[in-house]
Amino acid sequence: MSDAINRHWLLLDRPKGGNFTEVLSLREEPAPVAGEGQFRVRTIHLSLDPTNAVWMQYDSYLPAVPLNSTMRGLVLGVVDQSNHPKFKVGDIVTGMGGWADYTISDGSAFGRVPAIPGLPLTAYMGPLGMTGATAYFGLLDIGRPKAGETVVVSAAAGAVGSLVGQIAKIKGCRAVGIAGSDEKCAWLTGELGYDAAINYKAKGWQKALKAAVPDGIDIYFENVGGDITEAALSLLNVKGRIPFCGAISQYNATEPPPGPRNLSVLVSRRARMEGFLVLDYNSRLGEMYAEMGPWVAEGRIKWKVDLDQGLENTLTSFAKLFTGGNTGKLVVQVSEEPAR
Ligand SMILES: NC(=O)c1ccc[n+]([C@@H]2O[C@H](COP(=O)([O-])OP(=O)(O)OC[C@H]3O[C@@H](n4cnc5c(N)ncnc54)[C@H](OP(=O)(O)O)[C@@H]3O)[C@@H](O)[C@H]2O)c1
Repeated sequence: MSDAINRHWLLLDRPKGGNFTEVLSLREEPAPVAGEGQFRVRTIHLSLDPTNAVWMQYDSYLPAVPLNSTMRGLVLGVVDQSNHPKFKVGDIVTGMGGWADYTISDGSAFGRVPAIPGLPLTAYMGPLGMTGATAYFGLLDIGRPKAGETVVVSAAAGAVGSLVGQIAKIKGCRAVGIAGSDEKCAWLTGELGYDAAINYKAKGWQKALKAAVPDGIDIYFENVGGDITEAALSLLNVKGRIPFCGAISQYNATEPPPGPRNLSVLVSRRARMEGFLVLDYNSRLGEMYAEMGPWVAEGRIKWKVDLDQGLENTLTSFAKLFTGGNTGKLVVQVSEEPAR
């Protein structure tokens, strides 16, 4: 018999054009119970990520979420039942769970979060979690910045982007962000240390971008796609690099994307565009903790979690990713943190 209720978001159909409210439904049932060799995670924080929209629609680097099953999501939680030799009740863990109050795991998709004193748990959803690893390995491993180079970042005020520019600055680069409002741009230059920020919704933004990169672009960190990519490509230097992190402008598209139309720039500039997945860096997370941990603890890296309350509000929160409603890492608080 279960002791608790499990609310969970069931995926009923494949979304089209971002109609998430029509295809997801919040259901309640008795919470699952950990079997032999398993443990149960009570979700504290649910990470909302643009890629969730892809998982709902089609097979990509992970299979599409099966219809009539619980929506998949990255969670941080506490083990509240365990029949597993390596995980005990009270452990704080993060891994692949569901848009749900509870997840049952055999341990393969979860790991304990490293204990760094003084850091709130939300840090493991932000700079010291999947988000931080994406920014860190995407910029350093794929972009390979050198001091003095110019790094341009799209979706710069979002979870990944807000970290990329700060890492670029630590590595001695000029950092230029592209974001969707003057307020976000002011946050990038005023608080995060970006050298310049461009509002891509303002008239004449392409000219402003050109003016912000007088020496051209050495690294364009791609989060968005479409005409922002096209503008960055046109300013790319010889031997430029494009870590291709994502293309959020296309995740809900119902028609094939229109551009970029100038990809041949890669030939004339002898440039490299390379896609990457943070999942491929799981075995190297120690490197990220070793370098980012002190930067975060010393306040050299600033970070923001956009924290919404309540599993029942997940869809309202999720929509923010596609309208620019979030600043920093978007997270839903599902239940209270245990006293630590
Ligand atoms: N490769 C990997 O392993 C990996 C891992 C994590 C994330 N990612 C990718 O990284 C990117 C950023 O993810 P995130 O989690 O950090 O999300 P995020 O940046 O926190 O949120 C998405 C932001 O994208 C911007 N945006 C939305 N629609 C847009 C459009 N049509 N054109 C331009 N900008 C748009 C919005 O900001 P504005 O107000 O600025 O428009 C929004 O706040 C995504 O493409 C995601 O898929 C990849």
